[in-house]
Amino acid sequence: TYVVTENCIKCKYTDCVEVCPVDCFHEGPNFLVIDPDECIDCTLCEPECPAEAIYSEDDLPPSMEHFLELNAELAQKWPLITEKKDPPPDAEEWDGKPDKLQHLER
Ligand code: SF4
Ligand code: F3S
Repeated sequence: TYVVTENCIKCKYTDCVEVCPVDCFHEGPNFLVIDPDECIDCTLCEPECPAEAIYSEDDLPPSMEHFLELNAELAQKWPLITEKKDPPPDAEEWDGKPDKLQHLER
């Protein structure tokens, strides 16, 4: 499966959702996740993310491994998103900021 990681938080550009052929993405208040039960590893979303927040689980850096479980958990709770929308107005300011997990809204 592919996994959305920390740098998506408060950036949420949503370019990723448009390319997914099987509607994997689920939307929370300030983060998106991929449903691991739906992802077919097509690879299309990874290069679309301006925040470079999407990884194959096989390439996940050890520091981001907990995002695998977080994607699985939140995909069960959050609604599907299949169309791109405007990012938050301050998305660019948050792009690349460290330790954004503390800002995750559920
Ligand atoms: Fe969707 Fe493909 Fe990305 Fe999986 S790898 S979430 S199937 S676009
Ligand atoms: Fe997040 Fe990147 Fe998609 S910032 S919403 S994973 S395009």
